[in-house]
Amino acid sequence: MSETTAQLFYLVAAVCFILALRGLSSPKTARNGNLIGAAGAILATVTVFLYGDLDHELLMLGAIAVGSLFGVVAAQRVQMTQMPQLVALFNGVGGGAAALVALLELDGIVAVGTRDDVPTVTLVATAFTVIVGAVSLSGSLVTFAKLQGLITSRPIMFPGLPVLFGGGLLTAVAVSVFLVVEPRMWLGVALAVVGLAVGLMLVLPVGGADVPIVISLLNAFTGLAVAAGGYILGNTLLLIAGTLVGAAGTLLTKLMASAMGRSLFNILFGALKGGSTLGGGEASDRPVRSAGPADVAILLAYADRVIVVPGYGLAVAQAQHTLRELVDVMTAKGIKVDYAIHPVAGRMPGHMNVLLAEAQVPYEQLKEMGDINGEFKQTDVVLVVGANDVVNPAAKTTPGAPIYGMPILAADEAKQVVFMKRSMRPGFAGIENELLFDPKTTLLFGDAKDTMSKLLSAVKSL
Ligand code: TAP
Repeated sequence: MSETTAQLFYLVAAVCFILALRGLSSPKTARNGNLIGAAGAILATVTVFLYGDLDHELLMLGAIAVGSLFGVVAAQRVQMTQMPQLVALFNGVGGGAAALVALLELDGIVAVGTRDDVPTVTLVATAFTVIVGAVSLSGSLVTFAKLQGLITSRPIMFPGLPVLFGGGLLTAVAVSVFLVVEPRMWLGVALAVVGLAVGLMLVLPVGGADVPIVISLLNAFTGLAVAAGGYILGNTLLLIAGTLVGAAGTLLTKLMASAMGRSLFNILFGALKGGSTLGGGEASDRPVRSAGPADVAILLAYADRVIVVPGYGLAVAQAQHTLRELVDVMTAKGIKVDYAIHPVAGRMPGHMNVLLAEAQVPYEQLKEMGDINGEFKQTDVVLVVGANDVVNPAAKTTPGAPIYGMPILAADEAKQVVFMKRSMRPGFAGIENELLFDPKTTLLFGDAKDTMSKLLSAVKSL
């Protein structure tokens, strides 16, 4: 393959990546966006094999086969609710790969040239890729372990951690400077080890609801490491792809942090200075008003206006199809029903949109928080299905609470509130929700799939 053809294919692949991001910006076009991105990645990989002057081709094809097999099996088996940890794992592997590529390039630089043959900027990019890729690898593995429940999701702190962390950063800068002045392989390896340690110390103190935000941040880190790797290799496509991932990850991190009313600094370093990042939490034994499906059905059937607030529990129970049926039945009875979507409901951005789209809920019924919050006051019943933090008034009333400052859905302003959940355990942030104890609140206990089916039958029979 000629150089011109290869560059043309790389350009087409880069355009595919940009179109993929465009497609991912709406649930309607997300599936196609994903496919276009995958097609771009396949085109780029094939081009490398046809154009590049490669050694060890069989070994590389073997590695690609093993990686693809793992990727396909993991993607097919993963539950929607486990998606953030899968993203963390894939992201960590990407960062590690970027660091390894940079180390191999350093090996090449050390083997053939003297310091004067190598532009300083290439060595700076090499040091940057090694350190950021290593941080991303170890940090992502810790976030995976936290979300998978392999280690506690609470902040992990030990005495002297802030000092060690600062020392790690300074060591990384010092080793990078030595490496740029006098490139040596052992300096590269030392930099990778320091990067791994910094990644661990960066993520261990992050806990609870903040972990998915850090995954997004580490995703941005991997993008930057890959972009710098593209610079070292002189590969424009890698540079573009890395920059896109870096920019998208940064924007997503910022959006998630502001949707949760937190600053990135507070998320990363809150625990280091004794902050309020929590996770976990005990079930309350205070009295509440509970009812059965038949009573809740009557409440719903006599309402004119109902708003459904879906949350993480809906995804766990996989009750989205039954919920859609229930909403269809209520709509047929002349009740106006909408779904109120909080930006961080569930465990990943767009979680509820994906879940409800899967159940063929029309997009027009999904209302963003800003658009629907003014309507709760005129609402007869709010049906909260497996959600908790996103309607917890502590976000407005309790300074110091982990979710304080997070904009919430104004369910507390409605005339009646029904919570569907299994117990009195708190939500992800680990704090009690006063709305559960409000006189206008009714609890319908049970797994959402089971109780939703009973509620559907009861509403149908009225
Ligand atoms: P949560 O506050 O976590 O509440 C989920 C509720 O679902 C819990 O009260 C739980 O109570 C209930 N539940 C769990 N399994 C259930 C089942 N099978 N049937 C019925 N109920 C079930 O969820 P949310 O309101 O969606 O809030 C999301 C939280 O995740 C926020 O704190 C947010 O900051 C955090 N977070 C989100 C994101 C993104 S991007 N979405 C990222 C990071 C963090 P029981 O155990 O009593 O059933």
